[in-house]
Amino acid sequence: MLIPFLDLTRQHREVEAELTAALARVMQSGLYTLGPEVEAFEKEWADFCGVRGAAAVGSGTDALALALIASGAVRKGCRDEVITSPLTAAYTALAITGAGGVPVFADIDPRTLTLDPQSVEEAINPRTRAIVPVHLYGRRADMTSLCGVAERYNLAVIEDAAQAHGAAPCGKLPGACGLAAVFSFYPTKNLGACGDGGAIVSNDLALIERIKTLRQGGHATALQGKTEGRNSRLDEVQAALLRVKLRYLDKWNLKRQSLAALYNEALLKQTALQTPLADEPGSHVYHLYVVQHPKREGLRAHLAARGIESMIHYPYLLHQQPLFQRNEQRRLPTAERVVKNILSLPLYPQMRVEEAVAVAKAVRDFEALKPQD
Ligand SMILES: Cc1ncc(COP(=O)(O)O)c(C=O)c1O
Repeated sequence: MLIPFLDLTRQHREVEAELTAALARVMQSGLYTLGPEVEAFEKEWADFCGVRGAAAVGSGTDALALALIASGAVRKGCRDEVITSPLTAAYTALAITGAGGVPVFADIDPRTLTLDPQSVEEAINPRTRAIVPVHLYGRRADMTSLCGVAERYNLAVIEDAAQAHGAAPCGKLPGACGLAAVFSFYPTKNLGACGDGGAIVSNDLALIERIKTLRQGGHATALQGKTEGRNSRLDEVQAALLRVKLRYLDKWNLKRQSLAALYNEALLKQTALQTPLADEPGSHVYHLYVVQHPKREGLRAHLAARGIESMIHYPYLLHQQPLFQRNEQRRLPTAERVVKNILSLPLYPQMRVEEAVAVAKAVRDFEALKPQD
């Protein structure tokens, strides 16, 4: 049995009739960007996140850059520092540099693999302006502690929730705790468009309005201020398709959680292998199911030999990349250890239970091998 890491055609088949109808509606409307579908999606997405407003933009990277600029956290030409995680998609740091800021990397918590609040506090200096926690793999970062640190030092908190649509411990969704949260709707995400897209959500409606001006940089009001805008519009087709898929998001997240529970249960007794931490119900929406194993490369080859695809998110740490290296950057021992062991196993809502059972069995078989096997 060939087990793909992800097969998006299965998702498409599940909602194909509704997507096709939404597409036809937009094509016939004659309105193709920032129209009624975008407006309706923004309202529905803000409601889903339990916040007052949302602004839809062209990508998750733009969403983070625009949130940093519009909030005033990163000011033009000031080399303002923004603390984030070294274990994330490079886009997180590229958004910070794109906004004109300097990414500073703090270490991660070995259990959650998200930002360690103590390491964040150690990285703060007078140039620090904001913290960008990343809800990595769909697991919410420790927002209570991170918001506490931010409050003590008067820093903005902008959550990178690109992988965490719907992650909700204590009833709080991304965006309800920090100043704003940003999302990506890249096709593979828990809520994915059929192209690129992104959004910022916040309870600060003035911030949302500033972003709506900045996302169309040619807009007269954008040129009257001193802040540079850009072209980052969400188109009507993507908004209409996202509105369809949003109605399935809770169901699909539950499917992810039940497949993760199956893996967790099946892999419980594997002593060398570490499964993802999900200590609070609902705090993990398993954008990715990432295990840690000291023989990661051997496990990956073992799975591949059985037709099972796996991936590594991410094979490198951002503070070690030439683009982001700085003399002042400290070593980050936890991230530097963890990055050698992480492996993403296939998991998506349309994955069949028998496929997950086969993956778990293959992992267990690897663990049972004797060194000479
Ligand atoms: C954690 C994280 N941040 C930011 C982004 C950037 O989103 P986009 O690809 O929509 O620009 C991504 C997606 O790749 C991501 O996974």
